[in-house]
Amino acid sequence: MKQSFEKGFFAPLPVLIIGTYDANGKPDAMNAAWGGQAGMTQISVSLAGSHKTTANIRLNKEFTIAFATAEQIAACDYVGVVSGNSVENKLEKCGFTVTKSDKVNAPIIEQLPVAIECRAIDIQEEFGETRVVAEVVGLKADDSVLTDGKVDYGKAGFVTYDTVSKTYRTIGGSIANARSIGRKFE
Ligand SMILES: Cc1cc2nc3c(=O)[nH]c(=O)nc-3n(C[C@H](O)[C@H](O)[C@H](O)COP(=O)(O)O)c2cc1C
Repeated sequence: MKQSFEKGFFAPLPVLIIGTYDANGKPDAMNAAWGGQAGMTQISVSLAGSHKTTANIRLNKEFTIAFATAEQIAACDYVGVVSGNSVENKLEKCGFTVTKSDKVNAPIIEQLPVAIECRAIDIQEEFGETRVVAEVVGLKADDSVLTDGKVDYGKAGFVTYDTVSKTYRTIGGSIANARSIGRKFE
């Protein structure tokens, strides 16, 4: 028998590290779970209006999203509990260093192996949240996580966010080929 609950969440959620620059070119980063792919070329994220990241995106309309890794999980959590509005050297404190993307006016965090480069196409302030839809204009990936020129999840060490236990979880191995194993019922 299935139990019925009042609230529900997507599972698993991603652990997205959003990188932005402020008006003075100072980099910031924050952790976001409320986000995802929206079709082939777009993503969306839902941000509290008070975050420094949100102000930076309203200003520049450009940002990066790196995918958190098990190796860097403490730093990824830190950027989700402390605001760049109140801690000036937020990135330095957790050991993140950045280079500027060549495609968008946003920082690439050197310690995280994969990041997408995003340009906002719609920003809506609704229900106390800032909803950003963005076009993905590029991707940066370290050589160390590539196999045959493609991002290899087995090497990348990506993690997910578990909203029930409020913990980060690693991603396990492949179990079947997509658009393939189900064909046995055809
Ligand atoms: C696991 C986790 C997930 C989070 N997801 C979101 C989110 O999806 N949207 C959001 O607005 N804040 C989210 N936060 C909170 C922000 O990351 C946090 O308030 C951060 O300090 C904002 O930094 P900033 O002010 O420098 O931009 C999350 C925090 C954690 C730890």
